[in-house]
Amino acid sequence: MAIKTKSPDELKLMRMACAVAADVLEEIGTFIKPGITTRQVDDFAAEQIKAHGAKSAFLGYRKYPRNVCLSVNDEVVHGLGGERELHFGDIISVDVGVLYKGFIGDNARTFAVGGCSVAAQRLLDVTEQALQLGIAAAKAENRVTDISRAIQDFVEGNGYSVVREFVGHGVGRAMHEDPQVPNFVDRKMNDKLRPGMTIAIEPMVNAGGPAVKILKDGWTVVTQDGSLSAHFEHTVLITDGEPEILTCPSTTLSKLKVA
Ligand code: MF3
Ligand code: CO
Repeated sequence: MAIKTKSPDELKLMRMACAVAADVLEEIGTFIKPGITTRQVDDFAAEQIKAHGAKSAFLGYRKYPRNVCLSVNDEVVHGLGGERELHFGDIISVDVGVLYKGFIGDNARTFAVGGCSVAAQRLLDVTEQALQLGIAAAKAENRVTDISRAIQDFVEGNGYSVVREFVGHGVGRAMHEDPQVPNFVDRKMNDKLRPGMTIAIEPMVNAGGPAVKILKDGWTVVTQDGSLSAHFEHTVLITDGEPEILTCPSTTLSKLKVA
């Protein structure tokens, strides 16, 4: 199974799609505050995506019914915006995927609403750091398991657990391309990383046990034990040298026009 790499021309577009995804995520972060509903957040996300000339990569994907994924407190991923009101101290994971110029940028981050407990902040910090360690391992000639191990060791070393049922992935013209990038070591998923590959690395970390279940809405994934969960994601380019984070907010790149 040959994993696709992107040509320089494809990468140009991929960079722009990722910059849009990052800008939208950042804009959503400034919008989130106590008292608003998650539906308002989803509506705001739709406006921002449109303002960038992009489309939600999630809306309609396997019939997903919202523009972004909004997962509050014990919700892990794929939460649906609705009438739920955000309260001071909640944490909300926001996952933004956009389609722009034929390519997809995918990123996520968990925000505190107004502020949060020390325990919640520690969960956010560990999850974000786990992502950074995963990215640092995303080097050519390393394998997917090197990323997985970096994330899992750090998360478990801090007393938390990684979700098994959902994993990171290659990303490009399609949202989910090979390889799968688990946040735990799975020997079956041991592809070698090569320059030009673009992958979404996305640890989902539970404060309690790793088990999750899906709510009756068919989408929202929650922790089985009711513990808090956090999610950070970047789309990353494998290079000859250091990995490059493509989903960096930029005031210029996502506004560049391509011929
Ligand atoms: N970033 C998530 C993923 O990589 C988003 C999928 S949500 C869906 O799977 F709604 F589109 F399914
Ligand atoms: Co993803």
